[in-house]
Amino acid sequence: MERLTSPPRLMIVSDLDHTMVDHHDPENLSLLRFNSLWEHAYRHDSLLVFSTGRSPTLYKELRKEKPLLTPDITIMSVGTEITYGNSMVPDHGWVDTLNHKWDLGVVKEETGKFSELTLQAETEQRPHKVSFYVDKSKAQDVTKELSLRLEKRGLDVKIIYSGGMDLDILPQGAGKGQALAYLLKKLKSEGRLPLNTLACGDSGNDAELFSIPDVYGVMVSNAQEELLKWHAENAKDNPKVIHAKERCAGGIIQAVGEFKLGPNLSPRDVSDFLECRVENVNPGHEVVKFFLFYERWRRGEVENSEAYIASLKASCHPGGVFVHPSGAEKSLVDTIDELRKYHGDKQGKKFRVWVDQVLATETNHGTWNVKFDKWEQSGDEHRGCTTTVKFTAKEGEGLVWERVEQTWSEESELKKDDSSWII
Ligand code: GLC
Ligand code: MG
Repeated sequence: MERLTSPPRLMIVSDLDHTMVDHHDPENLSLLRFNSLWEHAYRHDSLLVFSTGRSPTLYKELRKEKPLLTPDITIMSVGTEITYGNSMVPDHGWVDTLNHKWDLGVVKEETGKFSELTLQAETEQRPHKVSFYVDKSKAQDVTKELSLRLEKRGLDVKIIYSGGMDLDILPQGAGKGQALAYLLKKLKSEGRLPLNTLACGDSGNDAELFSIPDVYGVMVSNAQEELLKWHAENAKDNPKVIHAKERCAGGIIQAVGEFKLGPNLSPRDVSDFLECRVENVNPGHEVVKFFLFYERWRRGEVENSEAYIASLKASCHPGGVFVHPSGAEKSLVDTIDELRKYHGDKQGKKFRVWVDQVLATETNHGTWNVKFDKWEQSGDEHRGCTTTVKFTAKEGEGLVWERVEQTWSEESELKKDDSSWII
């Protein structure tokens, strides 16, 4: 977050399951569309926040399964745990405020008396969150009775029903909404209040996000009954909250457009994006476009045309070097030439490419370093390389690729097969 010295242009605070992530889309298309939009147009001056009900354990599992970007801030366990940056540094200040009228032992003791409640997995039981499954037909009665009993024991809790099955008990001051309010206050005190904030969700635990003042909200088209009911009863007349027509991340992109929060055309929705021009010279855009081209080339979705190869070669410095993650060095131009033989080699296969945390810095006037992680999914395997590209801006010629250097990313868990990694 420290990389932003001025207020972020946009802060997106999004739930994951069935909001950012569409579990009914094995191709992850709407998520990939969101990813390239974010890296193309927002990463450099905006903040991405994930706010999930998942514990850190299940959150990390999801990251391995789905092509999720790395957020700037991660809010987990239904707003009870806030962490910052790649290394996920916990916000201890937030945790301290959650102990007010909260006693884990008492919550466990009282809930143990309800046969309707089935305890969730051990990983989902957290210091300020106790979670169960409960049948839809019993949820309301159990919630009422449990609130009374816990109040009698001197506690002040919040009971949230989500997804037609999950029941979470949290301190009254916790929850996704309170965590967002805390974050906004903190950013404001640092002089970095976002110009716009968009909250995105699909289920009961997201409702609070839509009641934070001055925050835009989108309930994705596939939102759960309990959230739509909450909206009808509490926020029907708030023009800042919409029910999108599109599912999951598609609904988020739709909301960015409807609320006019900034660009909403994902590079993935542009078929001839090599032609797509942007007003400001931002080498980050080049990177997003190139790797999208690379995916389409190998999937055989772009024409096998010499014109493409020629145009790519024209944007490489003749003496440009590519350092492969194996350490081998070769010429950039030769690397592009070799792409010819890979046209369509992934046709009909599960093959996707995405870039994460694309950040460009101008080192000298007209010289840029762009650092990012490039990920590749082939079948069920994910591999990633930390990549640095050096560009120079040449009068009238646009950006020239000078050097590309890759090293295997630490998170890349799979066996590092150097030979099948092209770039
Ligand atoms: C996630 C959590 C679960 C919680 C649910 C609803 O699925 O893993 O513990 O009950 O979100 O908040
Ligand atoms: Mg959800």
